Amino acid sequence: MTRKRASDPIGIFDSGIGGLTVAHAIKTRLPEEEILYFGDTAHLPYGDKSPAAILQFADHISSYLVDQQCKMIIVACNTASAIAFEQLQKKWGNDALMLNVIDPVAESIARNKEIKKLGVIGTKATIRSNAYEQRLLKLRPDLNVASLATPLLVSMIEEGFFDNKLSHTIIEAYLNYPDFKDIDAMILGCTHFPLIRKEIDAFFGGEVDIYDSTDIVAEAAVASLTAHELLNKERKNPDRFMVSDYTHSFEQTSRLFFGSEVRLERLPLWDELFR
Ligand code: DGL
Repeated sequence: MTRKRASDPIGIFDSGIGGLTVAHAIKTRLPEEEILYFGDTAHLPYGDKSPAAILQFADHISSYLVDQQCKMIIVACNTASAIAFEQLQKKWGNDALMLNVIDPVAESIARNKEIKKLGVIGTKATIRSNAYEQRLLKLRPDLNVASLATPLLVSMIEEGFFDNKLSHTIIEAYLNYPDFKDIDAMILGCTHFPLIRKEIDAFFGGEVDIYDSTDIVAEAAVASLTAHELLNKERKNPDRFMVSDYTHSFEQTSRLFFGSEVRLERLPLWDELFR
């Protein structure tokens, strides 16, 4: 087991730049932490990939982040959390504190006894894995969970279509899913979806509790770092935002997710693997 130090960075990864919503929520709470973000833009989207491919990608990225001495690794992608987290935790759990974006949300919902019926939306791979349903029912077997894959939403958001007529129409078409009738809560099971949270809330007329993976996961990270006495007091290095495939358009879009300018660096992680 490697010794973790408070001054070590927090590694955060996603299939692309959507996980920057989680990075931003962490940064807001813990400005002294050094963030090492990796977006696997060369393999985006994970939502359409096989479990074997997603596991291989997530494992290789985790291995890189452990190499970089990350004290904590946050799998800021619902798809990778659903498919690969158990195995990542087994393999890397001694080297870094491991966090995914599904468990903290499931635990938070389970604590809210007012919720009896809820909906989950996410990528095809996340929904097909049943990860949310399994975790929720383990904690609260009385819950009624309705899930729907909403693959169009990821590319819609990345293309900057939200808060407009087109996004309203697509969101409405998905959320009119009959099984979502009478839900008390809705899980936005994709790290892109915080950007359309307001529209989803409006669709339900503010009557449904909306859960996403930003604040709840950031709070879980704070709690875990505090419990392990690993909160950074004085940061030494700047944050780094790396991607496996750089394009100017990724850099422009990253602003949407992080809320401010982000400079992306290309990290040739796969060239190394397939050499
Ligand atoms: N950010 C990913 C997630 O949370 C979705 C994008 C993808 O399909 O790669 O599931």
